Amino acid sequence: MENRKLFHILLISFSLTLATPCAHGWGFEGHTAICRIAQARLTKPALAALEKLLPLNGEFGALCPWADTVKFRYRWSSSLHFINTPERLCSYSYARDCKGRGGVNGNCLEGAINNYTTQLNLKKTPQYNLTEALLFLSHFVGDIHQPLHTGFASDKGGNTIKVRWFNRASELHHVWDTDIIKTAQGKGANATNLDGFINQIQQKINGLWAKQVRGWEACKTATCPNVYAAESIKAACEWAYKGVQTGSVLADDYFKTRLPIVQLRIAQAGVRLASALNRILAVAG
Ligand SMILES: *[C@@H]1O[C@H](CO)[C@@H](O)[C@H](O)[C@H]1NC(C)=O
Ligand SMILES: *[C@@H]1O[C@H](CO)[C@@H](O)[C@H](O)[C@H]1NC(C)=O
Ligand SMILES: *[C@@H]1O[C@H](CO)[C@@H](O)[C@H](O)[C@H]1NC(C)=O
Ligand SMILES: [Zn+2]
Repeated sequence: MENRKLFHILLISFSLTLATPCAHGWGFEGHTAICRIAQARLTKPALAALEKLLPLNGEFGALCPWADTVKFRYRWSSSLHFINTPERLCSYSYARDCKGRGGVNGNCLEGAINNYTTQLNLKKTPQYNLTEALLFLSHFVGDIHQPLHTGFASDKGGNTIKVRWFNRASELHHVWDTDIIKTAQGKGANATNLDGFINQIQQKINGLWAKQVRGWEACKTATCPNVYAAESIKAACEWAYKGVQTGSVLADDYFKTRLPIVQLRIAQAGVRLASALNRILAVAG
């Protein structure tokens, strides 16, 4: 069956991701967390439509890292995972950084989110594969919330800033994709598994941040990627890049002060993805 085949392909690409370190985008945990948080907030009709688009037995959270696994098969997609901004400006402009010099013809995160939001229209005869559109959109809404995915072109969003993460070699970009989350899961007094990590974020959404959720969701269209990107570069300057240079040793202090930012960005991505999918997918009867 078509669906079964797709599921196997996804599973295979998926094991490949686990084997190779991921250079762009939240790692497996971050993307899975975002999509699970989103899924739990879907309305019934949106959830039903989502399940129809997923491969048989496919779990939404586990499929959200998919876009990272097809970067080589779909070469055109590799530039869609990030936005490059001019060094030290700490601002984002679509015209300057995506349509113009920094990105080519809108081939960046904002262009991609607009592209796949438009494609995922259940009222029209699909021009493209809707399963792929759903998985790309869900992945890119995640990526655009990783502060260093709207980062300086000069250091490739922190990829060329070599640091130590506790006693291991890493890059600043990787610290934000993966290391902070893994450390939160793996050791210390608050160690938890992925479910626990997601739970802690959901508790904050319903508690500490409950009053902010409406503001996160505010958007005239299904998605507002320009807003998310502007927040990301601001957070990149205030938290990710701050006090860090090649050779820095990042440990307890950096971890404790940045983990809440990682949790916040994952929360915002999950809430916003849910509200986008609720609008986009609930149209079919
Ligand atoms: C949609 O995309 C998936 C994933 O790339 C693929 O396996 C599947 O065959 C495609 N479906 C159609 C109808 O082309
Ligand atoms: C839009 O989606 C199509 C189909 O996946 C792809 O070929 C094209 O490169 C995408 N463009 C952008 C800017 O995302
Ligand atoms: C662990 O949890 C406690 C209580 O919730 C909190 O005060 C503390 O800052 C947390 N530590 C880390 C490293 O997140
Ligand atoms: Zn990515």
